[in-house]
Amino acid sequence: MTHDTHTYRADVDPDRLKMFSFGLFSHLSGAVTAGMVHLGDKLGLYEALAAFEAPVTTAELAAAVELNERWVREWSHNQAAARIVEVDTSVSPERFSMSPEAVAVLASPDHVAYGVGMFHRFPQTIGALDVMPESFRSGLGHDYDSHGCEGAVGIEKSFEPWMRHHLLATVIPSLAVVDQLEAGSKVIDIGCGAGGAVLMLAAAFPNSTFVGYDISERALERASERLSESGLSNARFVDPRIEPMPTDRSCDLVTTFDCIHDMTHPQEMMVSIRDAVADDGTWLLVDIKGRNSFAENVEKNPMAALMYGISVLSCMSSALSAPGGAGLGTLGLPEATAKEMSEIAGFTNFEKLDIDHSVNAFYAIRP
Ligand SMILES: C[S@@+](CC[C@H](N)C(=O)[O-])C[C@H]1O[C@@H](n2cnc3c(N)ncnc32)[C@H](O)[C@@H]1O
Repeated sequence: MTHDTHTYRADVDPDRLKMFSFGLFSHLSGAVTAGMVHLGDKLGLYEALAAFEAPVTTAELAAAVELNERWVREWSHNQAAARIVEVDTSVSPERFSMSPEAVAVLASPDHVAYGVGMFHRFPQTIGALDVMPESFRSGLGHDYDSHGCEGAVGIEKSFEPWMRHHLLATVIPSLAVVDQLEAGSKVIDIGCGAGGAVLMLAAAFPNSTFVGYDISERALERASERLSESGLSNARFVDPRIEPMPTDRSCDLVTTFDCIHDMTHPQEMMVSIRDAVADDGTWLLVDIKGRNSFAENVEKNPMAALMYGISVLSCMSSALSAPGGAGLGTLGLPEATAKEMSEIAGFTNFEKLDIDHSVNAFYAIRP
């Protein structure tokens, strides 16, 4: 069959054409609405709307946040059309409100389901499109610092709500290291980002010492700022290129949260982790729940398209940000791959932890 223009035209089914276009523009609708969510968060519109006890007009909402009503009205219409906020159109002017679930996800930083992080860094993530054509040509990606300081804050807002509820209550107890941490352990967190895990652990276990390592200057700045606010004296944040990680197998616990798949040299990093962890120590590996094949990811993960896209713009880009990068990407470290790589690095004991998380898998890996 020849694939000339005429053949394509003859093959087009008008109904399927409409469905295809609808599906495609639904993706654009999602992207633009994600931008509106970013604005709603940045302008305090969700918090203001959540604070009202009854549905409000856009004039009342605009007054509460001291913004121009016409702009707030158009934004509210987007949000209601996208079914993010509720609207009562039986009154005039219409009145807007948020469901308890929307309040939890969009206006409650302390809620376990708070989900604004990825929207916080949406402009930086989408901004990466400018440099992508060159990456597609050269093969070289961009590290986390390319997303600026808001990138680090976005990561912090993405991962910390769940961690605040579960790191100390669920994850650490599942490793059977609490007694040791209480007595005094040496702990390092690699790819520490804005330092949330280190700060939570250091506050909970004052007899232990914690060092967070990251190669992102922005993340380290943010982590250090939060460390000085915390007043903790048993934690530090450093760049491993300036102060290398321990190589004397002296760490009782090594943790990596959502970062191995972002690294240019994950196998070499695992060898370094083996050099850092004590013979009776533990490596807690937390990473995205990828499956063994693209087909399985698409079948079992309703967010596969989002994740492959984020991978191009962020995770795989970071993992290819130096020559020879492995480029695992967002879904590139499924359990079987993690186990095999850990064995190559010299670990012999690989245990998947029974921890329920929508995106992440948890492993206790021991020498
Ligand atoms: C998705 S963020 C996760 C941050 C943090 N663990 C959290 O859960 O919030 C990935 C982090 O890995 C860091 N990273 C990437 N390659 C690294 C390397 N070779 N050594 C240390 N950190 C690295 C990035 O700079 C980034 O801060």
